[in-house]
Amino acid sequence: MTLNEEITRRRTFAIISHPDAGKTTLTEKFLLYGGAIAQAGVVKGKKNARAATSDWMEIEKQRGISVTSSVMQFQYEGYCINILDTPGHQDFSEDTYRTLMAADSAVMVIDAAKGVEAQTRKLFKVCVMRDIPIFTFINKMDRESRDPFELCQEIEHELGIDTYAVNWPIGCGKEFQGVYDRKGGKIIHFTSNGGAKAATATQVNLDDPALDGLIGQRLHQQLSDDIELLDGASCDFDMDKVRHGKLSPVFFGSALTNFGVEPFLEEFLRMTTPPLPRMAGETVIDAFDEPFSAFVFKIQANMNKAHRDRIAFMRVVSGKFEADKEVYHVQGGKRIKLSRPQQLMAAEREIISEAYAGDIMGVFDPGIFSIGDTLCAPGSKFQFDPIPTFAPEHFQRIRSIDTMKRKQFLKGVEQIAQEGAIQIFKPPYTGMEEVIVGVVGTLQFDVLAYRLKSEYNVDLYTEGLPYCYLRLVGNEEPVKEDELNLGDAKLVEDYKGRQIVLFTSFWSINWVAERNKDLVLLEFGGGKEE
Ligand code: G4P
Repeated sequence: MTLNEEITRRRTFAIISHPDAGKTTLTEKFLLYGGAIAQAGVVKGKKNARAATSDWMEIEKQRGISVTSSVMQFQYEGYCINILDTPGHQDFSEDTYRTLMAADSAVMVIDAAKGVEAQTRKLFKVCVMRDIPIFTFINKMDRESRDPFELCQEIEHELGIDTYAVNWPIGCGKEFQGVYDRKGGKIIHFTSNGGAKAATATQVNLDDPALDGLIGQRLHQQLSDDIELLDGASCDFDMDKVRHGKLSPVFFGSALTNFGVEPFLEEFLRMTTPPLPRMAGETVIDAFDEPFSAFVFKIQANMNKAHRDRIAFMRVVSGKFEADKEVYHVQGGKRIKLSRPQQLMAAEREIISEAYAGDIMGVFDPGIFSIGDTLCAPGSKFQFDPIPTFAPEHFQRIRSIDTMKRKQFLKGVEQIAQEGAIQIFKPPYTGMEEVIVGVVGTLQFDVLAYRLKSEYNVDLYTEGLPYCYLRLVGNEEPVKEDELNLGDAKLVEDYKGRQIVLFTSFWSINWVAERNKDLVLLEFGGGKEE
């Protein structure tokens, strides 16, 4: 296969949902179609996970999920598909944002009985920031669900995106009869088959009298009415709007019973494009035109505790990666050979010798990579636009309970901070005995405490702090706390040595600004601002 053919057949998408909407089940069905797994239950050890009762185990489980199934590749009908799993926990973390940076489109799974839920909303906002196409799979139609019109309206109102129903459900729950494929004008009849690989689909036209016999007169009538209403009221299908994330094609189905999954996958592949370009300043780095380039979007330490390894995940943006050739690490200013390049398939890791634009690969990181780093062919020197960091919204003061373990404590905190899950600050005039930790979602505090215990054998003393906003000090000379009137705000330093002020409220930012006319306060990162 030529380079162009290899890249053309690639699709890279992220899958997002509120926990329990059916993301794992849907992913699993995709993998089954692609022949990447032979049976359901491989992606997530559900039965074992259930036995895990304590909160700590829960975190480990969550972490396990995002680690082992964070990237999966499978082949389907000539396509090479990379799925990026977004962390399943309720808390939003920067990790999620970065994962979405590596995707070219997103699949949003919604529980038909619940509609748009908190986590969907958060993840969705991030997708919108990237303008990537968003496909909606309304799942669990084999259960009692909400009115499909109402569900579509909710997506439109709550998420601010137009919807176009590609298919339409006929009944739900025990009455669920299948879907009407609007483009083909056909009914795909649902027959529960206990989750076997192939869904049973009978195709019948809407005006076929035999339809009464198949789905019953009442549902036939309701379907005809629904379709009439839909054709009249909904917006037209506009591929351009889909590609820019302004219109979401909506599909109804049931992942568990494997209904509507394959038609969804087929339409999804038809509507999505090969790998999209990325920007490096003013330059567009196109998947096809350029030699190899990639950027690091995630770093994960201690994936294998026994080996204390650290994996940097990168998205190949252009060209072809060949394991035996050197690449140029722009931020490090060095030519390097990427060590142990690997791809992940569910729980397995496989060493690879090549990868193409659109692919996600992990490489062993001896501690040289940071999130957002660019790798390219020797001779090129561009840098991909940085991945924005989010300003933390929750803060804690932490230290090791056992003062003898100070070293491990610092090593652990610094390493976890390098992964980007937390941001660390030190109060001025103190050593690094104590660290102030800032996170975007509070679950990160639990993960931090858990990981320090399990990976570094450090028990933490923690104390919640009242701050929720921060600003970077932009003065040319370092400022001194005793020369400022900060009220209840606090001056700290981040690990890059930059001065930062933490505030307890949005209001107190103005309070401080008014009383310290010489203090220059700058907004931080690309995250939340009121
Ligand atoms: P998540 O990754 O989005 O968190 O969701 P997951 O796939 O784990 O699914 C959550 C629960 O919903 C699972 O049940 C799963 O079987 C069920 N489910 C997923 N899709 C469908 C569907 O189309 N119809 C129905 N009726 N149920 C669905 P569980 O009881 O938590 O686990 P399990 O023992 O069934 O694995």
